[in-house]
Amino acid sequence: MVQTDFQKTPHIIEFSSIGSSELGYITVAEYPQNIPFEIKRTYWTYYTPHHVKRGGHAHIKLNQLIVAVAGVIEFTIENHLREQFFFRLEKPSQALYIPEKCWRTIKFSHNAVLLCLASLEYHESDYIREYDDFLKLI
Ligand code: TYD
Repeated sequence: MVQTDFQKTPHIIEFSSIGSSELGYITVAEYPQNIPFEIKRTYWTYYTPHHVKRGGHAHIKLNQLIVAVAGVIEFTIENHLREQFFFRLEKPSQALYIPEKCWRTIKFSHNAVLLCLASLEYHESDYIREYDDFLKLI
């Protein structure tokens, strides 16, 4: 994927909500209409206790879209330029786009469910799990 500057910066994507408060809503992510990469893998995390900090890693090539389908999820991110970002996800109609080479830590409300749409299959070799290695990479 050729990345523009915008695509190298973590940011929120707002999706349309189809429906109404009477009937409920549906939101759709479809490449290339409203997401910047083809999805190769999907996973979700849940039941993370509030006091636990997850993440603590970066990815060399992986791009991700993160949706808080329930609850509240807070991301602290440092990108390849060492810029710091904070995002609070609490609407199922929005996603956080995380490009490659971003160090992240994640906190969850007790009822949070995190859905990840990922650009690549799972490869442990794509993970940078030591912050010092992240600094060397960027
Ligand atoms: P990890 O990505 O480190 O979780 P988090 O960022 O939420 O703290 O993954 C946790 C464990 O799950 C780790 O042992 C790898 C495994 N895992 C898979 O086997 N396949 C996957 O697609 C993912 C995302 C994780």
